[in-house]
Amino acid sequence: MIDLACPSCRRALCPHAGALLCTACGAEYRQVDGIHRFLPAERAAHFQAFLADYTAIRIAEGRASADPGYFRRLPEPTPGGPLESQWELRRRSWTTVRRRAVGPAPPALEVVDIGAGVGWLSNRLADLGHHPYAVDLSVDPDDGLGAARHFEHSFPRMQAEMDAMPFGDGSADVVVFNASLHYSCDYHRTLVEALRVLAPRGRIIVLDSPIYRHTAAGEAMVAERRLDFERRFGTRSDSLPSIGYLTPAMLHHLAGSLGLRWRRHHTWYGWAWAWRPWQARLRSQRAPSRFTVLVGRRA
Ligand SMILES: C[S@@+](CC[C@H](N)C(=O)[O-])C[C@H]1O[C@@H](n2cnc3c(N)ncnc32)[C@H](O)[C@@H]1O
Repeated sequence: MIDLACPSCRRALCPHAGALLCTACGAEYRQVDGIHRFLPAERAAHFQAFLADYTAIRIAEGRASADPGYFRRLPEPTPGGPLESQWELRRRSWTTVRRRAVGPAPPALEVVDIGAGVGWLSNRLADLGHHPYAVDLSVDPDDGLGAARHFEHSFPRMQAEMDAMPFGDGSADVVVFNASLHYSCDYHRTLVEALRVLAPRGRIIVLDSPIYRHTAAGEAMVAERRLDFERRFGTRSDSLPSIGYLTPAMLHHLAGSLGLRWRRHHTWYGWAWAWRPWQARLRSQRAPSRFTVLVGRRA
């Protein structure tokens, strides 16, 4: 079991009148619709515009489904279902994680799935016999933690932010960022928090965050994405200064400043994907992103 702690002051929490109480700072955290609410009111206000834009775009993209089977199959794509080709890439990344980073239990691992979205990765980890904790800002019933009600496994769900997690020091075996690290506004701060929560021999796993060789290509992608959102959905979705991408130089710098060692695991996404950099060169377009599964340990 991972120890719970106050996300504001990091002290232990005590059960009190159906809620969790921090006896140090007096904060009280309730559970609503099966989700522990660890986002203080002022932080909820900070993220409000981001979440409103983000959820509206995702629902407009067709990510919601009335079919519980759709959620239970993830990351297996539903033929003809929403974003089938994107889920095919996600399925392949997950295969790499399962083969290279987190095999089946035993040992059963305590895993923090941060930026869990609907929680499909937590569901798959529970399948393997691990103990996941799905954490996200969004409790949306179709695209956030609320949608985890569809899964066959039940696991703790927590509304909290990646820079202030509701866990005690050194209590998790793995912290996984599944398509979520690039939403960070400060990678150093976010990874310091992940390392705080991790046991001494724990691992950080990053998958499905876009990696660009050069900052210029990453910045160009972010600008293109904002314009595309504005054109299609009427919002640039830029209320927070999320970074949006990684580069090898950023990873190198983070490894040095945090005392981390990254291991990279590559995935075969098919010929069409492999051909993209050549195609971009021929068309004089910006370089496309790559996806690499990263496993970070303390050096
Ligand atoms: C692209 S989605 C990925 C969701 C899920 N992991 C998946 O792979 O389908 C990114 C998720 O990160 C969450 N997120 C963004 N910023 C966050 C933050 N500061 N703290 C916690 N979660 C955050 C979003 O709410 C969203 O659910």
